[in-house]
Amino acid sequence: MDRLQAIVTDLLTLARLDARAPLDLSPTDLGRLVRDELDRRAYRIEIVRDLQQNVFVDCDPLRITRLLVNLLDNAERHATSQIAVSVRADGPAAALEVLDDGAGIAPEQREIVFDRFTRLDASRDRDTGGTGLGLAIAREIAEAHRGTLTIRDSSRGARFVPCLPLSQAPTSYGRPRGGS
Ligand SMILES: Nc1ncnc2c1ncn2[C@@H]1O[C@H](COP(=O)(O)OP(=O)(O)OP(=O)(O)O)[C@@H](O)[C@H]1O
Ligand SMILES: [Mg+2]
Repeated sequence: MDRLQAIVTDLLTLARLDARAPLDLSPTDLGRLVRDELDRRAYRIEIVRDLQQNVFVDCDPLRITRLLVNLLDNAERHATSQIAVSVRADGPAAALEVLDDGAGIAPEQREIVFDRFTRLDASRDRDTGGTGLGLAIAREIAEAHRGTLTIRDSSRGARFVPCLPLSQAPTSYGRPRGGS
């Protein structure tokens, strides 16, 4: 029944995202949010962190945590021995990265894995588990924040990179400057 409940919860989450339910936005230090989530939970596998501080995004922290957890669950399932998680500012965006050292995802499958209920063959015979909604939800969350979620090339494993627009906080909250 737990599994059925998880599926229903995922479908409800997707329905809300489809309906563009308003996000509960607040300026958030992304590196900190990621650190807190990694500290909260024990992983079966070593996680190497490289989390830049003061990378602020206007986000719904619960949603972004969900995006992160969906990527970490997958990485943990597919990794051989290690996951690397990083946060950094990259031009106008905050780039989070979840990289594992498993078999990776072939370039021609890097879009279909985001479709609802898609599970690649290797995962269908594997262990218990997934429904094939995790990545669909993760991408919807990124896009609801006007960001993106893509899979990039890597020398090994799968490299998932959600990018979110950097917060405009310093200018919008700062005192207006005279002059121009
Ligand atoms: N890190 C990864 N390495 C290799 N394949 C992956 C990775 N992440 C996802 N995939 C492939 O993409 C498919 C879809 O992932 P998704 O998270 O949407 O579903 P799931 O993990 O199978 O189930 P759910 O997340 O709903 O429990 C997976 O079944 C797997 O085949
Ligand atoms: Mg998943």
